Amino acid sequence: MLRFPRQLQRYDSAADCCERLAERLENHLRQWLLMPLALRRPLGLATGRTMEPLYAALVRRLMLWSAQDLVELRRRWCSFNLDEYLGVQAGDQCSYSTYMSRHLAEPLQLRPETLHLPNGSAPDGDAAAQSYAAALDACGGVGVQLLGLGTNGHVGFNEPPTAADQACHVVDLSEATRRQNSGLFGGDPAAVPSQAITLGLQEILAADEIHLVVTGAAKADILKRLLTLPAPQPGLPASWLLNHPCVWLWADADAIDRSLASDTAEDRNEH
Ligand code: GLP
Repeated sequence: MLRFPRQLQRYDSAADCCERLAERLENHLRQWLLMPLALRRPLGLATGRTMEPLYAALVRRLMLWSAQDLVELRRRWCSFNLDEYLGVQAGDQCSYSTYMSRHLAEPLQLRPETLHLPNGSAPDGDAAAQSYAAALDACGGVGVQLLGLGTNGHVGFNEPPTAADQACHVVDLSEATRRQNSGLFGGDPAAVPSQAITLGLQEILAADEIHLVVTGAAKADILKRLLTLPAPQPGLPASWLLNHPCVWLWADADAIDRSLASDTAEDRNEH
C-alpha cells in the first residue's frame, strides 16, 4: 500500500499535470493577495526541466488577469528559490537566476529583486547560504513550496545522504546530479559547477504546503523507491517529505503508473 503522499494527483500527461497544478497555484495567488500582510508567506520555487511547462501554464493563466490585479501581483510578489549553482554570475545563461528571469520574471514583468535566489557569485558560499536562510526567515519562511525530484532522490540540491534538520548550506554536487543537469552546460557533466547553495530539508519541511512534481519515465524508478519506503531515510532525501502533514504529489503516467501497478499487485498479495 502506498504510504505517501497525503494527496496523489495522477494525470495521463505532463502537460495535464502542470495545467492542473498551475490552476491551483493561480488560485493560491489570488487568495494570497487578499491575505493580511502578516500572513503572506513567500512562494518557494524550483527550477529544472519539470518546472518549465508548469511556469508556462502559470504565466498563461496569470496574463489573463485584469491589469489592476497584475499590478497588485507585481507589487506584492515575493518568492524564494530552492537553490543556485556556486561560482556562476547572476547573468550567466546557465544560472538558475537566468532560468527564473526567462520563465517567470520576464513574461510576468515581475521586479527581479522580488524573486530571491541564493547568491551564486558570492566569494564566501557559507556566508551566502547563511544570509539567504536569514532573508527567508525574515519573510516568515515558505508558504507553498514547489519541488522537483532528482533521479538520485534529491530535492533542491540536497544530495544523499541528507538529514531532516539540515539547514541552508553549500553542497558538493554528486556525479549523478552533474550528469543529470549537464543539458544546460552543453551536455558536458564536467562543465556543471561542482558546488551549489541549497535550502535544506529544515526550511523545506517548514513550508505550509508542498507540491512535489514528478513527470517522465526517467523518474519512474526513483519514484517507485520513494513510494514504497517504509520510513524516511537519509539516503533518499525526498523521503523526509513523509514526515510533512501536507504534501501533494503531482505525477504523470510515465512516472507513476509502474508504482501504482506494483501497489495493486502488493495489495492483491496481502488479501
Ligand atoms: C535539479 C534541481 C532541482 C530540480 C531537480 C529535478 O538538480 N536542483 O531543483 O527540481 O534537480 O530536475 P529536472 O526537473 O530537470 O529533472
